[in-house]
Amino acid sequence: MPKQTAKAAAAATSPTAKARAAKAPRSRSKAARPSTPTQPAPPVENAAFGEDWWRRGVVYQVYPRSFADSNDDGFGDLPGLIDKLDYLNDGTERSLGIDAIWLSPIHPSPGFDVGYDVADYDAIDPIFGTLDDFGRLVAEAHRRGIRLMLDLVMNHTSSEHGWFEQSRRDPNGAYGDWYLWRDGRRGRFGRRIPPNNWSSFFGGSAWTWDEVRGQYYLHTFLPEQPDVNWRNPAVREAMLTMVRGWLERGVDGFRLDVFNAFFKDADLRSNPRRYRGRRPYDRQVHLYDKDQPELVDFLAEFRALVDSFPGSMTVGELFSSDPIGAVRLSAPRHLVFDWWLIKTPWKAPSFVRASQMREAMFRESGWPTVVLGNHDQSRLASRLAPRADATTSDEVARAAAVLSLSLRGTPFLYYGEEIGARDVAVTWEEIIDPPARRGGRLVRRLVPWWNRDQARSPMPWGRGGPNGGFTAGRPWLRMAPDVDTRNVAVQDDDSGSVLNAYRRLLWLRRRHPAMQVGTYRHVPTRTPDVYVYERATDDETIIVAVNFAAKERSFGIRTSRRWRTLFDTHAPDGAASREISAGGELTLQPRQAVILLGA
Ligand code: GLC
Repeated sequence: MPKQTAKAAAAATSPTAKARAAKAPRSRSKAARPSTPTQPAPPVENAAFGEDWWRRGVVYQVYPRSFADSNDDGFGDLPGLIDKLDYLNDGTERSLGIDAIWLSPIHPSPGFDVGYDVADYDAIDPIFGTLDDFGRLVAEAHRRGIRLMLDLVMNHTSSEHGWFEQSRRDPNGAYGDWYLWRDGRRGRFGRRIPPNNWSSFFGGSAWTWDEVRGQYYLHTFLPEQPDVNWRNPAVREAMLTMVRGWLERGVDGFRLDVFNAFFKDADLRSNPRRYRGRRPYDRQVHLYDKDQPELVDFLAEFRALVDSFPGSMTVGELFSSDPIGAVRLSAPRHLVFDWWLIKTPWKAPSFVRASQMREAMFRESGWPTVVLGNHDQSRLASRLAPRADATTSDEVARAAAVLSLSLRGTPFLYYGEEIGARDVAVTWEEIIDPPARRGGRLVRRLVPWWNRDQARSPMPWGRGGPNGGFTAGRPWLRMAPDVDTRNVAVQDDDSGSVLNAYRRLLWLRRRHPAMQVGTYRHVPTRTPDVYVYERATDDETIIVAVNFAAKERSFGIRTSRRWRTLFDTHAPDGAASREISAGGELTLQPRQAVILLGA
């Protein structure tokens, strides 16, 4: 189906006028559907790392609607992404040098949660392309040594998924028990009320009455995202069959959306109340609506399947839980986001503490992720340097890049962070993100990430021309106001740009095992604004020093070694030539970060 037609279909069936641009067609029969793969998935060639890529490599998150538009319909798509693979890694230091792509959902979706409401797990949404495009993407990525991870949204489907449509129509049919249906209770004056007190993360009750079936159904997120019944073996089997299908198509791993919410209490007991918290969701102890013991068994089954495809890895999105859960649920080749760093403010003592907590939790044998940004959070530069001018913003972005690529763990980079992108103000009238619209103005004041559109604006690629070279059409979401000055082409030519800092760091990381798998040790200094740590393998030791202050700071390195500068945010061209003498004092400029190699 050509994309223009898809777009027209999208406009006709959108949930709200403003969400139109995010909408994919309703008809799944028109979507590209898979068949049994006709050719074996092409192997990964020229990769920097073998099966250990899950620890040594760097994962880059592509939000497909916003990455690259090949046919000027205003939506990014798979052919557009294929065109940009050389930008991501062409095997030379001119490219970014990432090892894997995590692709946010690409399946047909009515767009109530901009793709995180899947209407057909086995197909490709026509706004993104076809299954052939997907096959080409796998082959072209693998040819460049890039692995491909898909986003698995399995806690819920779209309310337009065929499973839900059949489930609501026929309680006794094959799909009758695939979702969590209940009769509800009788409240005051005999009024019908939901079966328990659970709140939706996106506001309101987690239960919606369905007139068709005459029962309530559960939705942890929007009413258009009904939660599936993971206790039903048929659901489990269908999901695992789908996962196998994508592995057979050559996918190298998955990100598991809100995986710790799959299982709910068997008796659906009400959660205890909490008396503090900004939103109703926060004013409950989530004892019964997530983090249930049955998850562990399912993960074992899921892992056994994924592990039968050597070299694959998965990462779980820990949903609204204590970071200790991340440690408990992670395993070799199965990582879990712990969110500690993404919540850490731009202060050296805060980063020191966050790293210490993570190190204490994961210990040397465990393996964390390093995540400073994603599609649900404010852009890194806006969060860490609010109200900063462009120069300060870029300095913070470069220093944060050093942290993100040299702290212990697998880095996940969100597209656009490599050019120091900032949040883009989207007016109330233009908001697409449905949860933000649903939350209304109150939530907008209470919840900092009230409008995730701000962090999802299309990638500006070029100088001149409309929309920073993203599309000649109308972009699905507002472009950043500074596209003419902050884009890939402009930063390509500037050796001091954020982009070139990322490139140098990524390639440096490839050459230095200490940056990948070295042990971590905090190096205390008497200067509270400076965060210094060491990463070491048997063969090399590096020191990372970051000055968080807006002023110059000096500190001493008390070792007998000589240190050579490997990387310096403030001296992009001459970084490797500077030497620091043994035991000497090092002075860092405001927001300067350096990486030193011990001689
Ligand atoms: C995850 C996704 C988020 C989505 C939610 C519900 O948190 O990252 O974008 O809204 O799950 O699927």
